[in-house]
Amino acid sequence: MTLSKPIVNDLNETIETVACQAARAAGMVARQGFLNASPETLATEQKAGFFDIVTASDKAAERAACDTIWSHIPASRILGEEGGWQGEGDTTWIIDPIDGTSNFASGLPFFSVSIAAYHKGEPVCGVVYDPVRDELFMAAGGRLTLNGETVEPFLRGRTDREVEVLTNAPYEGERPSRAAQEAHADLVNSFRAVRRLGSCALHLAYVAVGRVAICYESKFSAWDIAAGIQLVQTAGGHVHAQDADGRTLEPHQDALGSVKRLVVAQAGFDYQSSCLSRLMADGTL
Ligand code: IPD
Ligand code: CA
Ligand code: CA
Repeated sequence: MTLSKPIVNDLNETIETVACQAARAAGMVARQGFLNASPETLATEQKAGFFDIVTASDKAAERAACDTIWSHIPASRILGEEGGWQGEGDTTWIIDPIDGTSNFASGLPFFSVSIAAYHKGEPVCGVVYDPVRDELFMAAGGRLTLNGETVEPFLRGRTDREVEVLTNAPYEGERPSRAAQEAHADLVNSFRAVRRLGSCALHLAYVAVGRVAICYESKFSAWDIAAGIQLVQTAGGHVHAQDADGRTLEPHQDALGSVKRLVVAQAGFDYQSSCLSRLMADGTL
């Protein structure tokens, strides 16, 4: 009993250190690819369609992150956006090497690396790294940090009227349904401002550190939200996750793939009075 605790702590510290190194390694690739953009770094393929692209830099950044992880913790199982599941072991990593690829490929400096780590199913740390601003947001051991300094967020406002909402909705690739159009009209009518910045992971990180009070997303994969959810939870913020049928979910590692709608908000924000609370409850989003 007295022996096992320090061993687990050591392991967690190792995982946290490696997560930062992997995020910085991937971030360096992304930053170089962005600052020295060329037909090579931006060599682009479509995935689900014209609205969903991958560049050579996404693949190179993911390789850099995976190589860093496996060189330090070989018993690692990694889910990367570009490579799918690879490796075996008790430590699981969920990686988005460049979240905001469309911004990246357009020359808009708003994208991030997102890495979440779990050991035997338990969250260990979440890192979202913005390589352009050199901002590393991290949740680990109950602490929320920005570039290693503890963050103590203050409340931006309590009501929709006083704050901005971040959302990437409505999403490209299909005409929004009538209900989605109506929901977006409600957001525009309720919040001080609605902002669509193009990196889901950075949206979540910005709520965690208190730059923005609330964020809503409804089209994402596990790698878009895994680290950001840990950041918001560690900040003490609200996380409202629903499955495709509108049921509330605890967004732990194995359930991330089932989360289809997500609202995160700062602690102290009056979510129950927000139009987002009503839209989530009605299932109209
Ligand atoms: C996308 C970004 C975008 C969100 C999309 C994601 P990618 O990730 O997070 O903001 O609206 O749903 O797929 O493709 O740039 O990694
Ligand atoms: Ca993404
Ligand atoms: Ca990506």
